[in-house]
Amino acid sequence: MKNIVLIGFMGTGKTSTGRSLAQRLGFCFIDLDQKIEEAAGMTIPEMFERYGEAYFRAREREAVVRASGRSHAVIATGGGTVKDPENRRTLRESGAVVCLQADVDTILQRTQTRGERPVLDGRDEGDRRCAIKQLLEERRALYEEADFTVDTSDRSPLQVVDEIVRFLRGRGGLHV
Ligand code: S3P
Repeated sequence: MKNIVLIGFMGTGKTSTGRSLAQRLGFCFIDLDQKIEEAAGMTIPEMFERYGEAYFRAREREAVVRASGRSHAVIATGGGTVKDPENRRTLRESGAVVCLQADVDTILQRTQTRGERPVLDGRDEGDRRCAIKQLLEERRALYEEADFTVDTSDRSPLQVVDEIVRFLRGRGGLHV
């Protein structure tokens, strides 16, 4: 098993879980959104504003290829990374795919701030809860392709990491 890939909707804890998991395993941590922002020298909302979503998705595909070439890495994807079939293939070949999920109210609470998540802001016509439910429904089948799924709603980051480590041990090839 080369890498651990975290997928899941916005606000499910991919970045914070990824960082702790990497620390626990002694792996390096790669956050795709952060890599995209660093490479472009602008934030993701700025990128959407200036160049549009298609431009962001192209940068995201490049970041997926680069990160997947690494080994012993925990890779936190963005919520929409798995929409692209080529990304899904590349990530799957790169390692174990773990999906983080959370209930709608938890996601709503974690993604309340406007201006940080352009895809959600773009869908939100005054009812953010409804926008989340719609997007979740559209993407459900993609997230279900994961090897293992953890619900992060009522769990501490430590508990989430423990569950993932248990799964990885059970799968073999990981000695932690
Ligand atoms: C997106 C999720 C974001 C980021 C971008 C698009 C999406 O990542 O990649 O704003 O389409 O769901 P997070 O899931 O880390 O918020």
